[in-house]
Amino acid sequence: MALNLVVSLVSILISSIFPQPRAFQHPHDLFGLSPNSANFISSTSSPTSSTSIPLTPSIGAPPLAPALFVIGDSSVDCGTNNFLSTLARADRLPYGRDFDTHRPTGRFCNGRIPVDYLALRLGLPFVPSYLGQSGSVEDMIHGVNYASAGAGVIFSSGSELGLHISFTQQIQQFTDTYQQFVLSMGEHGANDLISNSVFYISIGINDYIHYYLRNVSNVQNLFLPWSFNHFIASTIKLQIKNLYTVNVRKVVVMGLAPIGCAPHYLWEYRSENGECIEEINDIVREFNFVMRYMIEELGEELPDSKIIFCDLLEGSMDIIKNHRRYGFNVTADACCGLGEYGGWIMCLSSEMACSDASNHIWWDQFHPTEAVNAILADNIWNGLHTNMCYPMNLEEMVVSKEK
Ligand SMILES: *[C@@H]1O[C@H](CO)[C@@H](O)[C@H](O)[C@H]1NC(C)=O
Ligand SMILES: *[C@@H]1O[C@H](CO)[C@@H](O)[C@H](O)[C@H]1NC(C)=O
Repeated sequence: MALNLVVSLVSILISSIFPQPRAFQHPHDLFGLSPNSANFISSTSSPTSSTSIPLTPSIGAPPLAPALFVIGDSSVDCGTNNFLSTLARADRLPYGRDFDTHRPTGRFCNGRIPVDYLALRLGLPFVPSYLGQSGSVEDMIHGVNYASAGAGVIFSSGSELGLHISFTQQIQQFTDTYQQFVLSMGEHGANDLISNSVFYISIGINDYIHYYLRNVSNVQNLFLPWSFNHFIASTIKLQIKNLYTVNVRKVVVMGLAPIGCAPHYLWEYRSENGECIEEINDIVREFNFVMRYMIEELGEELPDSKIIFCDLLEGSMDIIKNHRRYGFNVTADACCGLGEYGGWIMCLSSEMACSDASNHIWWDQFHPTEAVNAILADNIWNGLHTNMCYPMNLEEMVVSKEK
């Protein structure tokens, strides 16, 4: 009941604030899912003034990987949804207010997301979103970000929010990119580039937020959490195998975040004193356990692959528990949002936001702040604050010599 109320309230707010979704002028292009049509790009008003950021790393050393490719949901979307008709868009302030450009980009954060920090660690520029770049090989040579907010492993997860590019569609888009590389640099060149590049996959949480926990299609009666977890994890595993066939060798698979601690659920489940909702975190914990096991298995199955699993719940719980050490004094309230814990109404305007996000763990009702993303990225890179990647960290994956 409460959820329905929120959804309708949000729809009213959205329709008054964004009377005309600016994208969605060329639905056939959207379903073609390709940025290559110059028509699509030039006739769609640019959602932000800068979707690709010409930030080059400060150190002159050669990059540790030729490119970074990103597949996922709002945890790593950097502008895809700016081109889609959906409620899940971060193209308005206060989103991006603490980013390098101090403008909204489509990132669901006040500033940088983990893949921004990791691109810089690899010696690469920030990776452009697939729909936000020209589609030329030159624009994609350092990597592409296909992630789309609201996307899940199950095609219909998150569809109540509007359009998104699902997991399978993102893999398809990458395959198109691969074909373009082959045409431009030959099979050998393309395979060399792809096999040395890093793939970052961060998806699955919407299958819980927008499907399982909402009990869409009676899913909770049809699947126990255990079998639902296995279904999602084995689908991800299968897609990594598909990527392997187009020469993907280095993959980072992110586990799910502790959304039982997210302001939205603290509000919905009426948390006392900001206590996390353990029944939700238990499902996430179990998923991460299953996923880690499957990734380990997969790494042994696929020759010459380096596939790692990073447990986002582990890394995030460390931050929540030891928040003072990390400089956070607001652990339960979203910086931007309305209602108890800022978890009732989504972040829609600057007036809804706190003035300083740097001492907050949560930016909005579902997403962490840039400060948290920086810590998590450090952990993924080399376990700086706490170890959360298995069987190795990203630095070890890219620095160790090829056989
Ligand atoms: C899920 O929804 C179905 C109806 O679609 C309902 O019968 C069932 O009780 C719900 N399950 C839970 C756990 O809420
Ligand atoms: C958090 O710390 C800042 C100063 O560092 C202070 O202004 C603010 O009131 C504190 N907030 C809470 C909830 O303790």
